[in-house]
Amino acid sequence: MNTTPTSTDTPHGLSSRARAEIDLHALRANVATLRARTGGAALMAVVKSDGYGHGALPCAKAALEAGATWVATATPEEALALRAQGVEAPLMCWLWTPGGPWREGVEAGLDMSVSGMWALAEVTAAAREAGRPARIQLKADTGLGRNGCQPADWTELVAAARAAEAEGTVRITGVWSHFARADEPGHPSVQRQLDTFGDMLAHAEREGVDPEVRHIANSPATLTLPASHYDLVRTGIAMYGISPSPEVGTHQELGLRPVMTLSANVALVKGVPAGHGVSYGHTYVTAEETTLALIPVGYADGIPRHASGRGPVLIGGERHTIAGRVAMDQFVVDLGSRKIQEGAEAVLFGPGDHGEPTAEDWARAADTIAYEIVTRIGKRVPRVHLGATDGDGPV
Ligand SMILES: Cc1ncc(COP(=O)(O)O)c(C=O)c1O
Repeated sequence: MNTTPTSTDTPHGLSSRARAEIDLHALRANVATLRARTGGAALMAVVKSDGYGHGALPCAKAALEAGATWVATATPEEALALRAQGVEAPLMCWLWTPGGPWREGVEAGLDMSVSGMWALAEVTAAAREAGRPARIQLKADTGLGRNGCQPADWTELVAAARAAEAEGTVRITGVWSHFARADEPGHPSVQRQLDTFGDMLAHAEREGVDPEVRHIANSPATLTLPASHYDLVRTGIAMYGISPSPEVGTHQELGLRPVMTLSANVALVKGVPAGHGVSYGHTYVTAEETTLALIPVGYADGIPRHASGRGPVLIGGERHTIAGRVAMDQFVVDLGSRKIQEGAEAVLFGPGDHGEPTAEDWARAADTIAYEIVTRIGKRVPRVHLGATDGDGPV
């Protein structure tokens, strides 16, 4: 197995403190599982926010190897970085603000999302300057109420985009939207959004739009709603082996395998008397004479402070719960009568095979979603990619 450390700061070999192992074999298997559920639809690998914390480039490469044919990020900067690193597959990004970088996006051949007239004006100006057409995807707000063009403004946007296409400034490569509540299968808003998408798409097609791809499905819709698959599904969280929500199912039920395993090495083990306060605020006080273990990761590493007193950890085959508050760089576990050596491995989360907690367990402990748990693991934690292929060539 090829182990490629890709930390931006500390190589794994130098880090006895903590690491996030990224199992690219699991990611490829997840992509294959998702593809098997989508019939003929293409799969777009969503690798925004550094691949939900897993490393955008190695995850994009692994997903493409496993049959994904598109890659997506939120920001243009993320997409441009992937292009510069050799990702040649169709590459979409959707979070644009006035000022661009539209020109760079045109020149890099990005698929650029357009949600309103201001964006169309800026992208067409950039395409004229660059002397080549921009690839744009029109985004419909079918009910999410976030980015995207409202149905009331759609006629104007489609007409203007078609006019730009007729003069050769843009190519409308996609019409797309995003769900608000697909993680609650059967919620009436999901069907309403699907219907609105159908209507807005039909209008665009009547006006002559002939997109390469029409898409609305994120991971939960990919897993639960075949009618939403259209030409392409945009999967993020499921590709990383995490269930979008308990309502959609557990990762085991969905045939997915968590890709990230976060572990740290115990920094200090010491005996303390009964009645000893632990960590800031002394929210935990030892009930009796006991042994404490210091785990050298904290909220600067993305360990949620909200999980103080609740976050689970596996040490030497046994589960423990954080004692007291999570600090910036460390937290403490009460081992009771157990004997553990400094340097012992503490697994915060992983696939769960060996009794370790999962990111979903941490999400429950911190009153959040597993998306946030993995995405916020900080840069100070080296990523160790297992199963990376060696090729540095174009992907
Ligand atoms: C526009 C858009 N599409 C697709 C996704 C992927 O969603 P998921 O991780 O649920 O698959 C996201 C992520 O939030 C998104 O913002």
